[in-house]
Amino acid sequence: VTAPVTPAYDPDVADDFAFAFDIDGVLVRGGQAIPEAVEAMKMLNGENEYGIRVPYIFLTNGGGKFETERCKDLSKQLEIEVSPGQFICGHTPMRELSHAYKGTVLVVGGEGQKCREVAKSYGFRDVITPGDIIKANSATAPFRKLSEEDAAASRDLLAEGYKSLKDVVVEAVFVFADSRDWASDLQIIMDVAMSQGGRLETRSHTFEEGPPIYFSHNDVVWSAAHEHVRLGMGALRRIVEVVFEECTGGKKLTTHAFGKPQVGTFEFATRLLQQWRAQQHGLDDGKVGTVYFVGDTPESDIRGTNAMNAKCEGTDWYSILVKTGVYQDGTEPAYKPRVTVPTVLDSVKYGIEREM
Ligand code: G3P
Ligand code: MG
Repeated sequence: VTAPVTPAYDPDVADDFAFAFDIDGVLVRGGQAIPEAVEAMKMLNGENEYGIRVPYIFLTNGGGKFETERCKDLSKQLEIEVSPGQFICGHTPMRELSHAYKGTVLVVGGEGQKCREVAKSYGFRDVITPGDIIKANSATAPFRKLSEEDAAASRDLLAEGYKSLKDVVVEAVFVFADSRDWASDLQIIMDVAMSQGGRLETRSHTFEEGPPIYFSHNDVVWSAAHEHVRLGMGALRRIVEVVFEECTGGKKLTTHAFGKPQVGTFEFATRLLQQWRAQQHGLDDGKVGTVYFVGDTPESDIRGTNAMNAKCEGTDWYSILVKTGVYQDGTEPAYKPRVTVPTVLDSVKYGIEREM
């Protein structure tokens, strides 16, 4: 293994401030770059009146692919090179839980069986998906028929040596990305939550022994191609909790969420930014003075940035709200940004002007 080469100090790189960007509703909508985003990236890469280059990272609640794939998409959309070293998505911090759950985990969401592969790459050893369960017992979800492709990509648990699904014990549930079939995924999450200690196809008498359930984020809505916001994973999380209560005679289900606005996610981002500044720009001389966080969702982006700022000593986490996504101009944001600007390009101009 060769040690990474740290680049020499570059006076044209901003050493005391950086940017962190949310993606959906700030840089991209419905798979297309927001027009000002391309120019904003150019400005950060030196096309500004000071000729200065500014370090930046990306922090999205989205997911469903390998980080490397997501970076390739983003590189194309923004016409720059985006490295996994400057990118965190909703499920990235779940990697750290692969040490805690060494048995079977249930992974939900995303296209086909992709999230199984992502989870395995994070170190989870035995990953099952709703597709595997439906393949073993099609009565699990009365109205979902697996496509040929899905069936082929699903594990054949009964052929692997399990006598029945009752032999499978789920240690934890991870909702990695948006469900593609809410009804069957809800049914399966509910079955596991109401089971005897995660054992499939059993029912608990107490409803107090289901395994932990983790969602990669908590956004009830997000900004996609449609003119109005679309329902997101946070909506499914709410439904899971409400339906559990309804089906168990009033028992409460506590689930967990990663992503923004969790301060842990921003701490993860701090470590990433530190590494990125060192590896990419040779800036390994401690903390950055100001991180401008640019987001469109007050409940996730602004709330999280402000909370991080309150907790973090030495770095000013500066929240900037844009008007191109979830936040609607003229309304009162539930969490107040330090500044609101029309687009991401204005946020970059604002930050650079404030620093220079
Ligand atoms: O599903 C993705 C969405 O909830 C938010 O993505 O980039 O706005 O954090 P982003
Ligand atoms: Mg967003």
